[in-house]
Amino acid sequence: MADTAKPLAVVTGASSGIGFELAKLCAESGFNLIIAADMPEIEQAAEALRSTGVTVEPLLTDLATRQGVEQLHALIGGRNVDYLLANAGHGLGRAFLDQDFDEIEHVIDTNITGTVYLIQLVTREMRARGEGKLLITGSIAGFMPGSFSAVYNGTKAFINSFSFALRNELKDSGVTVTCLMPGATDTDFFERADEVDTKVGAEEKDLAYDVARDGFDAMMAGKGDLVSGLYNKMTTAMASVTPAGMAAEQHRKLAEPGTDKNAT
Ligand SMILES: NC(=O)c1ccc[n+]([C@@H]2O[C@H](COP(=O)([O-])OP(=O)(O)OC[C@H]3O[C@@H](n4cnc5c(N)ncnc54)[C@H](OP(=O)(O)O)[C@@H]3O)[C@@H](O)[C@H]2O)c1
Repeated sequence: MADTAKPLAVVTGASSGIGFELAKLCAESGFNLIIAADMPEIEQAAEALRSTGVTVEPLLTDLATRQGVEQLHALIGGRNVDYLLANAGHGLGRAFLDQDFDEIEHVIDTNITGTVYLIQLVTREMRARGEGKLLITGSIAGFMPGSFSAVYNGTKAFINSFSFALRNELKDSGVTVTCLMPGATDTDFFERADEVDTKVGAEEKDLAYDVARDGFDAMMAGKGDLVSGLYNKMTTAMASVTPAGMAAEQHRKLAEPGTDKNAT
């Protein structure tokens, strides 16, 4: 039986990578957990997280669907959510015209539609209580046109912008919104996005734990946004002053299939 005295955190995309590390940081801080993902590995993740002594409720569901988001909201079942970590997301590499539209739609529905639907359902309740903290996983990819990852980068541009706007809307509500913007991070992301044979997919990356630590600390401090890592901060600063055409060409050199041969 959950110890309701403990805060409750909801973490999406917690079966692996950044989301699993975020869930672990929540558990180590004594928060009970509801975790969700769309592969059976979510059960093993729950087992591993239970070793910290908190209650962990896993949900296997596709958060790209309204039903999946409503299933998660039903599992919350009116309990007070103290922390919502909206992290689930995935990419899609290759040329846009060569991509399968079902896969394109699933990226948009996971990274945008499902994410904002869950945020609306849970944050309305936080606003009514006048307290709560959100961490939304955006990306530095949102700052540059994503040649050979065009739809994915577009979804992260949406999520970054949406997070900043929601934070402003809620500024006097007691609810804080933090946008975590990682750079290339060593997780299953590149395999799932079919980007292993790219320069960015082949090169050294940040550690998921370090990125999660940065995001968790920023959420707890109620910060607005955080680009994780100095190199990524410089990359976003450059991207904000680079003409779009030049930025798109630079992204091509990172993400075009076969550029793994240029990896350093
Ligand atoms: N890795 C990077 O370089 C990088 C950089 C910037 C931002 N990000 C963002 O960081 C977040 C976490 O990604 P990651 O790098 O940690 O990759 P990851 O290891 O592949 O983790 C992605 C998580 O999201 C879940 N997920 C994806 N689509 C879902 C859906 N439709 N319904 C439910 N769960 C879903 C996955 O569950 P299953 O495994 O069960 O499918 C997994 O738990 C994503 O939003 C990603 O866009 C990653």
